[in-house]
Formats: sequence, structure tokens, C-alpha cells
Amino acid sequence: MGRLIVVSNRVPSPRERTQPAGGLTVGLKDAVRGVESLWFGWSGEYSDDVEHQKPNLDKVEGVTYATIDLTTEQHERFYENFSNGLLWPLCHYRIGIIDFHREDLRVYREVNALFADQLVPLLRPDDTIWVHDYHLFPLGEELRKRGVKSKIGFFLHIPFPPWSVTRVLPCAAEFLTDMTSYDLIGVQTDEDAHNMSDCFHMCGLEKDVHAFPIGIDPKEFAEQAISSLETPEVNRLRASLRNRKLIIGVDRLDYSKGIPERFHGYEALLKRYPEHINNVIFLQITPVSRGGVASYQALRRELDELAGRICGDHADFDWTPIRYLTQPVPRHILASFHRLADVALVTPLRDGMNLVAKEFVAAQDAENPGALILSHFAGAAPEMSEALLINPYDSDDIADALNTALTMPLDERRRRWETLDEEVTTRTAAHWAHGFLVKLQESNDTP
Ligand code: ADP
Ligand code: F6P
Repeated sequence: MGRLIVVSNRVPSPRERTQPAGGLTVGLKDAVRGVESLWFGWSGEYSDDVEHQKPNLDKVEGVTYATIDLTTEQHERFYENFSNGLLWPLCHYRIGIIDFHREDLRVYREVNALFADQLVPLLRPDDTIWVHDYHLFPLGEELRKRGVKSKIGFFLHIPFPPWSVTRVLPCAAEFLTDMTSYDLIGVQTDEDAHNMSDCFHMCGLEKDVHAFPIGIDPKEFAEQAISSLETPEVNRLRASLRNRKLIIGVDRLDYSKGIPERFHGYEALLKRYPEHINNVIFLQITPVSRGGVASYQALRRELDELAGRICGDHADFDWTPIRYLTQPVPRHILASFHRLADVALVTPLRDGMNLVAKEFVAAQDAENPGALILSHFAGAAPEMSEALLINPYDSDDIADALNTALTMPLDERRRRWETLDEEVTTRTAAHWAHGFLVKLQESNDTP
């Protein structure tokens, strides 16, 4: 096989230690390791200088990173409006907050054409191309139009809704038609595969869609969790607990993650199980994400208000029930925070997979593991049935699960964790990428 060409809107900065939060770059970084590859995408910057729309190349540890800037208009219309103000909520079943404008669609298509124009000169005939996520639905077709004959696969990291929801998108049929140019389409779960296959069918198209659940590199994360235990940050957190139990939540500040619902569930715990008052601390680490999009700004205001109100109502002179942070935390520190935690609270209203749930499991101490509370609506839920599964819309369900987790005997915690850990250790990021790429090579669709 020739090189692997990965294309995604978000590309990790190869030389920066603190990376933007998000599952795509975490999963893919593990997947490209050790493979001769080129990773093409957006630089994370925007500029109106056309020279900046040519790829900037940087080779680090065998991976060539090729990134381009977007213009101010493209950043607003392609990234903020169309990708994250429309496709993201649509795919997360939130049609009540979508905002469609034809001008945004025009720029979305323009950026996909720009990606193709800038990528094609970098390609070799024996490359295998792997396109990622909803920002780039039409990219495969744009590459075919430019004569690319290589195998092209597409993987969607987020959920894919049923036709009754998808059809709300005025260009749904056009996008699905474009997507038939891919040799292989992968999604996270069987439910997503079923929904997308059905959407093709409803548009009179035939395309197989397969589930490839993404994973992490559990060994590396576990090593980070152990090796960072004596860092100043982790020592400070440990000392501040003063033998109280730690509940942890780690997410981008995104309405799909069910963070207000989680806060309500935690408050229900304090009201219904008052024995936990002053004996527990809830640390929610939520770096701001997509801060230019109105629905994200509204969520931030809601959480600021809610965290403040819950603290005001329940705090004591020497105890604050919630520690709510909106900054990113370096990954290795986060790993040890997970290891210190007694409970992880992962409550998405809808999520493609949710790698945080897998990271929490990987970071645990086998002798004294913490308990995972996980939403039924995370893509990870079918694989992680030994977690305490909850419905995030029911704050009492969250409160009951929190009480169960906080009081769970050690042997039950161990038994549940061992099963979860086996899953996380078996379905790694490398296993996910290998499975997809083998199937892509086997595909014999003629574009
Ligand atoms: P998504 O891709 O929607 O953000 P995932 O749970 O699949 O959701 O992946 C999130 C990734 O981002 C995880 O690897 C997680 O560790 C990382 N992450 C989330 N929140 C933070 C944070 N506060 N600081 C650093 N990394 C974070
Ligand atoms: O994992 C889903 C995803 O949408 C990725 O495509 C994206 O990189 C990540 O979440 C974080 O979002 P953003 O790139 O908008 O910061």
C-alpha cells in the first residue's frame, strides 16, 4: 500500500503540547502513528490573504501535516454556520435549533472544492485517501471530478439520524448522491449504519454503510495517568479533596454533551441523598468550543448561571459542590485526574461515540477502580453495558446512579471495570483504523 492520506477539517498542531479537545484528532493521531501518511486540513487560522490558502507543510515523526487557512467568510459560513450551526445539530437530532441559509451551503461547497484543489497536487496514484466527518461530506465527489482514481473512504465521527430527521436538510439528497463516490463509508454504530443506509435507499441510491466503533490508545493513556500522578496539578487536586469522593466530567462545552442535565442530576443527588453533602466534589472540566456559534454562547451562559446557582444554594463556608472550569487541561494531567476520580459522569443527549468514557476506564487503578455512569445515547453505550447506564433527561435517574456509584462495593466496581477495560483494550484506535482500511482495500466499488 502507498501512503495514507487523512483529510479532516480539524488537524492537531504537531508541535503543540496542548491540543484542541475533540475525539477526531485523538482517535486519528493514534491511527496514523507509524504509517507513512499525509494529514490534510484546516490550520485552525483564518486570513483573507489568498497565499494562505495554499498548503503549509510540516513533517513530524513520519507524518506530513498539510494545512490551509480559511478566509473570514469561509470560517463563518463553512465552519461556524453550515458545519456547526446546521449539520452538527441536525446529526444530533436537534432540528429545533438548526439554521439553514443557501449562502452558507454555497460556501460549504466552495471549501470542499478548495480542499480538493489544494489536495490533488499533493497526491500520488497509489495513495489511499481517508476523509473524515461532516465538514467534508462532498469531498470524495470533488476529488473524483478532478480525476482522482485512488480508493477513497469516508468516516463519520458523529451520529447519523434517520431519514425523517435527515430530510429536513434541503440538500440531503444532493449530499447523499455525492457520497456514493466513496468506496467505503463507515460510521460509529449499527444504528447510524442502519439510518444512513436507509437514507440512501429513500433517495433511490444503493450504498452499504458499515459500523466501525472508534477507540483510544488505552495503554498510552494508562501510562500517562500513572506517570503524571505526582505532578503539581495532580498533587494539588488530591490535597484539595481532603478524603472527599471525586466525581469528574470532561467534555467540550457542547449542548450535545448534556452538561446542564448533568448539573441537575447532581443537584438531585444533593437533595435526595443529603449524606453526600460535604463528602463529594464534582469537578467539571469543559473547555469552550465553537465559541462563535450562538447556540454554544447560549449554553455557556446557561452553565455559568446554573453552576453559580447550584453553588449558591448548596455550598457551605468550607465546601463548594461544583468546581466548574472552562479551560482545557493538558491530556496527561487529565489522565491522572481520571485516575483520582471515584466516578465519571458522561451524560450526552446524543454522541457519536464518546472517547471520554473510554479514557476514564483506561486510566483506572485495577485494584481500586472508579465507576462509570454513561448515557444510553452515547455511541459507546452498546459496548459498555457494564457502566451504570442512565437516561440524561431524567435527573432522578442520574441522582440514583450517582448514589449507587458512590456507595458501590469494591468487588462490584472491580467486576464491572474488568469487563469495561477488556472492551477498551480490545477496540483500540489502531484496531479501528486497521479494520476500516482493510475493508477499504477490499472494496471493489467502481467510482
Ligand atoms: P468530541 O469529539 O465530541 O469532543 P469525545 O468524547 O469523543 O467527544 O472526545 C473528546 C476528546 O477531547 C477526548 O479525547 C477528551 O479527552 C478530550 N477533551 C475533552 N475535554 C477536554 C478538556 N477539558 N481538556 C482537554 N481535553 C479534553
Ligand atoms: O469528534 C467530532 C468533532 O466534530 C470533530 O470533527 C472535531 O474535530 C471535534 O469534534 C472538535 O470540534 P472542533 O473541531 O469544531 O473544535
